[in-house]
Amino acid sequence: MKSVVSYPDRGKFGKSSYRGNCSGRLIQDLIEQYKLDSLSDYMVGSGTTEDVCRAMNIPGTFLDLNRGFDMMTMDIPERAENLFWHPPYGSMIVYSDHMYSAKDIISRYGFDPRVNDLSRAKDWDDFVRKMNYCCLKQYASLEKGGRMFVLMGDWKKNGVLHSMLCDIAKPGTLEQIIIKMQHNCVSDQRTYGSNNFVPIVHEYLMVLRKDAAVIIPICLPTKRKMDMRDSLSATWRDVVAAVMEDSRKPLTLTDIYEQVSGHKKCKANPNWRAKVRQTLYINNVFKRSGDAWTLAAA
Ligand SMILES: C[S@@+](CC[C@H](N)C(=O)[O-])C[C@H]1O[C@@H](n2cnc3c(N)ncnc32)[C@H](O)[C@@H]1O
Repeated sequence: MKSVVSYPDRGKFGKSSYRGNCSGRLIQDLIEQYKLDSLSDYMVGSGTTEDVCRAMNIPGTFLDLNRGFDMMTMDIPERAENLFWHPPYGSMIVYSDHMYSAKDIISRYGFDPRVNDLSRAKDWDDFVRKMNYCCLKQYASLEKGGRMFVLMGDWKKNGVLHSMLCDIAKPGTLEQIIIKMQHNCVSDQRTYGSNNFVPIVHEYLMVLRKDAAVIIPICLPTKRKMDMRDSLSATWRDVVAAVMEDSRKPLTLTDIYEQVSGHKKCKANPNWRAKVRQTLYINNVFKRSGDAWTLAAA
């Protein structure tokens, strides 16, 4: 196995009609590469991991919402040594009531799979919250010394990249990231209007190892907003330019003072008003017209 893998032929594992299913060849390679004695999958979808494990005589536990297991509300029934996890791709492919009937699950298992189906999260932030809950729950259930293999992808909507790899929690030791080329996707048949659209043709496989059980390292991505006027790494030129870029009209000196006053950049410099004036005069990115200022390029 190398850090880039490609399986044009997915093998006779799982069901190719189950959207977002993965190639069993990847799972075969992981079992061989990491010499796995067992492998479980609690979002097994069409049963790819189970089919590979059966063919290779590897024991494991195979669950899914479509088999009556809800990761969001139910306990994981074991402490496995190795886990393969292939979560939904946000809401790009909806599973419950698309790949299987919600009515069937209700009558067989007594709960509605649509409620906690990760692919039905209300938006990306809700999906990330649920994905990370499932990630940490599975990691907690892993035996010390074990591994969790997470297969995931990125997708783009309205010019924004939704990256599972960037937003997923990374508990334990990050041992490897493998790029997996994608084949036979529904999106392969699409043509894209925008000429700067770069089609995504790969997925990621992240390998997490559990070296410690109680106190574990963790990387938990958080998204915040930053105000440039509070950033001590931005120069005065950048702060004044940012204020102008977000303004719909030319700004007088008083307007600029009002916009930046009270922010960290000013608190760090008692002579900040003089600094603003100097910034406007010495930088040719600013242009004066009467008593108002704009960006020279505007
Ligand atoms: C990308 S698919 C897995 C595909 C699988 N690797 C295959 O090859 O067929 C993701 C799966 O997550 C399941 N799922 C979504 N939310 C879940 C939840 N709360 N609990 C358990 N399974 C869930 C879906 O039913 C779906 O089968």
